[in-house]
Amino acid sequence: MMSELNRVIWPKSISRSNQVLEIGGCTAISIAKKYGTPIFVLDEQDLIARAEDWKSTLHDVFRDDAGFVYYAAKAFISVEVAKIIAERGLSLDVCTGGELAVAAAAKFPANRIEMHGNNKSEAEIEGAIDYGVKSIVVDSIQEIERVADIARSRNKVQEIIIRLNPGVEAHTHEYITTAIEDVKFGFSIASGAAWKAVELISKLPSLKLTGVHSHIGSQIFESEPFDVTAIKHLEFLKRYKDEFNSELPNLIIGGGFGIAYVEGDNPIEPRELVIRFHKVIKETANRLGLKVPKVSIEPGRAIIGPSMITLYKVGTTKEVALKDGGNRLYVSVDGGMSDNIRTSLYGAEYTAVIANRISTQPNRDCRIVGKHCESGDVIINSIALPSDIKPGDLLAVAATGAYGRSMASNYNHVPRPGVISVSDGKARTIIRSETSADLLALEIEEVAQPLGEQ
Ligand code: LLP
Repeated sequence: MMSELNRVIWPKSISRSNQVLEIGGCTAISIAKKYGTPIFVLDEQDLIARAEDWKSTLHDVFRDDAGFVYYAAKAFISVEVAKIIAERGLSLDVCTGGELAVAAAAKFPANRIEMHGNNKSEAEIEGAIDYGVKSIVVDSIQEIERVADIARSRNKVQEIIIRLNPGVEAHTHEYITTAIEDVKFGFSIASGAAWKAVELISKLPSLKLTGVHSHIGSQIFESEPFDVTAIKHLEFLKRYKDEFNSELPNLIIGGGFGIAYVEGDNPIEPRELVIRFHKVIKETANRLGLKVPKVSIEPGRAIIGPSMITLYKVGTTKEVALKDGGNRLYVSVDGGMSDNIRTSLYGAEYTAVIANRISTQPNRDCRIVGKHCESGDVIINSIALPSDIKPGDLLAVAATGAYGRSMASNYNHVPRPGVISVSDGKARTIIRSETSADLLALEIEEVAQPLGEQ
């Protein structure tokens, strides 16, 4: 029955052993028994392989011109994952003080961290500078001034990268498109805002501009939008060279590389993509008379996404008649939009299988829903699953590593699931599951006090 487990969608170690789904050498039944459900399960070797693959690919293809592979922490971060990423020689993209705190707890080398965010607080900027991050990616005029002031107050010269908006439309869901003109991210190249920012930076001695950045969207399957972006960046770098008579050494292309969630999704292989970047960047740099800059990328989803699955338990099933005369089976699991908001938010699609057994029954159309008090609480809108799926069955949903746990909430006071890491038949907790006590721990009963004059 291996054909049900598409290698491109599921983690590398996935298999069936005596009919039961196995990941990292641990069966779904033993995982559910020990850790309960829902639970995120990380295939640690799969994560390591993907992280190493991106790094070696960038280095093989770009050689001396390879910059860094910044793992985008927003996709998923924990102290243990940060350690894995650090050990494999990757760098880290953090975009809040919270993500930086996790990096610090993992002792992530400061000179391999870049700080993102379109509205970093003063405390976040101070924290980043004091931790000694390699670079801060600036995203507004006010922020440039803020970073300059804070660096000056510490007698430091802070390396910064400017986030450009190249105005490129990547063909992806609107909510995850970050670089068309009418968005909050970056300095528009077309409007002249980016150039004005560069001029301002050049007058601030506590800042050292070291390159340009953009991130044009997420879950992108095509390479053309990246090509266009790289060309626009290089043209910008050429203008910089002409005006300042020096070259900025770094070009960061961002992340956004798509992964397969369902049959038929066909993302570009990392190597193919990076070879294309190299070709376009080298040709354009030569044409414009520029040195090839150090090229960095920021994959999040493409590293952690396929490495993790979510294991749920089915609680109830309900057959519903459809207008067209057909019917559908609603299958309710013990999690939902609180551990996976992507379906309701972006119309995301997922693949799932029954994990505790193999059924010989024919498939039927099912809708996988959660336990929340909301009709939109859907995990998989439509999926063919064995018609005898029933309460007590375990359901494994593939490719939930990116933006699953990291976007989880406590809606309906549902505790967020933990994350366990499995490898070679062993399992360990890397984030424990929350309990109601965790939620109640935030509750405070106190007498109101006057706030005083501000
Ligand atoms: N770099 C920057 C500056 C970013 O803003 C992002 C993602 C990344 C890198 C990593 O992108 P990735 O390689 O993971 O696609 N919550 C949405 C995705 C939002 C992406 C936000 N920025 C989702 O669940 O699809």
